[in-house]
Amino acid sequence: MKSAFLDRRGKIAGCFIPPGDKSISHRAVMLGSLAEGSSVFTHFLEAGDCLHTLKAFESLGVEAVHQPGTGRLRIEGRGLRSLTCPSGNLYLGNSGTSMRLLLGILAGQRFECTLSGDPSLSLRPMKRVVQPLKQMGAQIKGRDNGNFAPLMIRGGRLRGIEFENVLASAQVKSAILFAGLYAESVTRITEPRPSRDHTEKLLIAAGAAFEQTGAGLMVRQTERLKPLSFEIPGDFSAAAFFIAAAAMIPGSDLTVENVGLNPLRTGMLDVLKRMGAVIEIHEKTGFPEPCGMIHVSGARLRGTRITAHEIPGLIDELPAIMTVMALSEGESLISGAEELRVKETDRIMSLVGNLNVLGAQLQELPDGCLIRGVEQLQGGAVKSFGDHRTAMCMAVASLRCRGEIQIEDIECVATSFPDFFTEFERLRVS
Ligand code: S3P
Repeated sequence: MKSAFLDRRGKIAGCFIPPGDKSISHRAVMLGSLAEGSSVFTHFLEAGDCLHTLKAFESLGVEAVHQPGTGRLRIEGRGLRSLTCPSGNLYLGNSGTSMRLLLGILAGQRFECTLSGDPSLSLRPMKRVVQPLKQMGAQIKGRDNGNFAPLMIRGGRLRGIEFENVLASAQVKSAILFAGLYAESVTRITEPRPSRDHTEKLLIAAGAAFEQTGAGLMVRQTERLKPLSFEIPGDFSAAAFFIAAAAMIPGSDLTVENVGLNPLRTGMLDVLKRMGAVIEIHEKTGFPEPCGMIHVSGARLRGTRITAHEIPGLIDELPAIMTVMALSEGESLISGAEELRVKETDRIMSLVGNLNVLGAQLQELPDGCLIRGVEQLQGGAVKSFGDHRTAMCMAVASLRCRGEIQIEDIECVATSFPDFFTEFERLRVS
């Protein structure tokens, strides 16, 4: 296990281009594989999670040409019904998005296969997708009545359902949308709070029988999807660590170029602005997603509150936001964030524990935390618990630590942002 020792306070300055968006990279592989013809993607995220998705589709008979290090990926899709039975298990590493979305696609295939993952993925709840997919007609088996991987799935004839996405989960919604492409009757989805809509945007671009109305989403059985070619925007969730660090350290000056600006992903910017951050956004219209530039100047920030309705738009940024709140003036409160407990790790527990080890004042709540801001942290030994976002947050915290910080087990950043520590060293100035 590799550790990072960071012993310099500092600011963030310079220009940064984030790696390709993780959510969109997964979906690019999936839509490209199910389309008829060649799709070409650039700025594909060459990180553990998306490479697991790519490998899974290759095992399902899809031809892909990927030259590592270039971000360029060509996929030869042969159609919605052309996947073939893999010779072994589909191993998906740490990636919840791969497993949940694949279940939706495999629900429509006429063969049986098994999905497995690492110890963290094997403990993540799958009932949220398994239950509606079973209702549509898929057969799925796994531990605890199909709640935990390894999961065996046998697809087949599906029927449409009316589904309410009560967890505001884009992974669950996307799995049902994919299955809906194969169902003999219409599938309708409603969402009490909107979650990221990357799947919807790509389904529209690929010509799926899909509609978005005021009443919700509607997908029907689809014969064919068109291939798609586009540049994948930079990942806002990867940029978030540097944006958060720059925002809370006076004297910082960061420009993030080519970053995805889907409004269902950028809730962290609204929170930071409420806290007093100085942020400018310049949007260039992009296909298939808005994309542009963010400029951040450092400032002293003050606490704020985040409640349930804001959570889906910043779910992956909450660890970085908690780190900023720990170092802002006054009190902050996060509530309605119980979903954070079922991410790669229980991120409420790991962030509260780690930040308190460093000298912060956070109190764990069942659905979030209460934070009393401090002027600076002391330092100490913290663990990533194998969670990429926890490791990156600890690096952000180190910029305002009086002493040294040791972050144990940092290899996990390879899941979403393999070059994180190189970029961190490049952007950090004393
Ligand atoms: C994702 C959706 C979110 C997010 C995850 C990626 C996606 O999960 O936390 O990192 O690509 O659809 P939930 O759908 O479970 O909220």
